[in-house]
Amino acid sequence: MATETTFSIIKPNAVKKNAIGGIISLFEKNGLKISAMKLTKIEKSQCETFYAEHKERPFFGELVSFMTSGPVVLMALTGENAVLRNREIMGATDPKKAAPGTLRALYGDNVGENAVHGSDSAASAERELKIFFETKEFANK
Ligand code: RTP
Ligand code: MG
Repeated sequence: MATETTFSIIKPNAVKKNAIGGIISLFEKNGLKISAMKLTKIEKSQCETFYAEHKERPFFGELVSFMTSGPVVLMALTGENAVLRNREIMGATDPKKAAPGTLRALYGDNVGENAVHGSDSAASAERELKIFFETKEFANK
């Protein structure tokens, strides 16, 4: 399996509860390297572009307002099978349904405020990384 890079966000509720270290620690323990990282607030228009696939969903407004409500951590994660591995570490979208020990079970508050985002495919990862990072060269030594 080739090394790949996926995109991850530590969402505002997790940053607020001082969970950045706990979340990054679980990525590193599971073989994912942080290959780019910034702590920032997302602009509304950038957030709408990022979540464009959910534009027609009833929770879209709530989702954008939550994701722009406070600082987030944007990361590129690099490793073997990184897209799928990250999704496994995150757990199910709804923290109530997430397996014990996954990030959403540990730090999620509800289906919207579920602590982390992770790209759902290699194509999504490429699109999402392009929105938030200038480079295509992610350091992963
Ligand atoms: P994500 O994109 O954030 O990694 O999460 P996901 O793939 O597991 O879930 P997705 O279906 O892509 O939904 C994107 C985000 O929208 C919020 N959501 N709210 N209120 C609701 O019923 C609801 N459903 C989804 C969550 O923040 C979810 O992560
Ligand atoms: Mg998704």
